[in-house]
Amino acid sequence: MRIDIISIFPDYLASLRLSLIGKAIDAGTVELFVHDLRDHAVDIHRTVDDTVFGGGPGMVMKPEPWGAMLDAVLESGPFDIRPTLLIPTPSGRTFTQSVADELATSEWLIFACGRYEGIDGRVAQFYRESMDVREVSIGDYVLAGGEAAALVMCEAVVRLVPGVLGNASSAPDDSFATDRSGSALEGPVYTKPASWRGLEVPAVLLSGHHGEIAKFREQSSVQRTSEYRPDLVDD
Ligand code: 6GU
Repeated sequence: MRIDIISIFPDYLASLRLSLIGKAIDAGTVELFVHDLRDHAVDIHRTVDDTVFGGGPGMVMKPEPWGAMLDAVLESGPFDIRPTLLIPTPSGRTFTQSVADELATSEWLIFACGRYEGIDGRVAQFYRESMDVREVSIGDYVLAGGEAAALVMCEAVVRLVPGVLGNASSAPDDSFATDRSGSALEGPVYTKPASWRGLEVPAVLLSGHHGEIAKFREQSSVQRTSEYRPDLVDD
């Protein structure tokens, strides 16, 4: 998988080279390119924003630097692959585990991280011709820019790419996994020691009875989901 991330704060994305994604990059499973949008600003001050047409507070990102940058990124890549252009914005469609599953099968993701009040709307409109454009939000709250959201989405997607997770069988057990048995949220998990500060690991988990263990995990999943996320409980 190839990932391009465009931002006016490229250093913000440096953490992607750590940990799980870093290993996937080192292994060659993922290729990551981070670009500074200001490299395609046109004036001496490297301006990337301007005031809002129609009036109102804040600034909007100008379309020209985005056009020049996205054209350059498209030029640099394989012509036979139609990329997915992800535009993080609080006014996007919600990014969920099933969106992550779908994106994990994509060969080329491009993240366009906006700041201020967002990117001129014609950028998304223009690139619908050459890319699968998706405006996506990671939740119902407002961030100062798309970078943190891009980090979140990259991590959620890359860990699903075949060969990236150390233990390939652990993804289906995750909370929200689409092939998960039981309810939406995974219940608590335990490791050694079996007794810690007077607290015992539930005995059934030490019993070796796989059927009973599966039943216990199912029950704790249902219990946790109804307590923390009643909105996810189906009847
Ligand atoms: Cl994707 N971007 C910004 N700026 N704020 C957000 C968001 C994205 N998702 C939730 N809030």
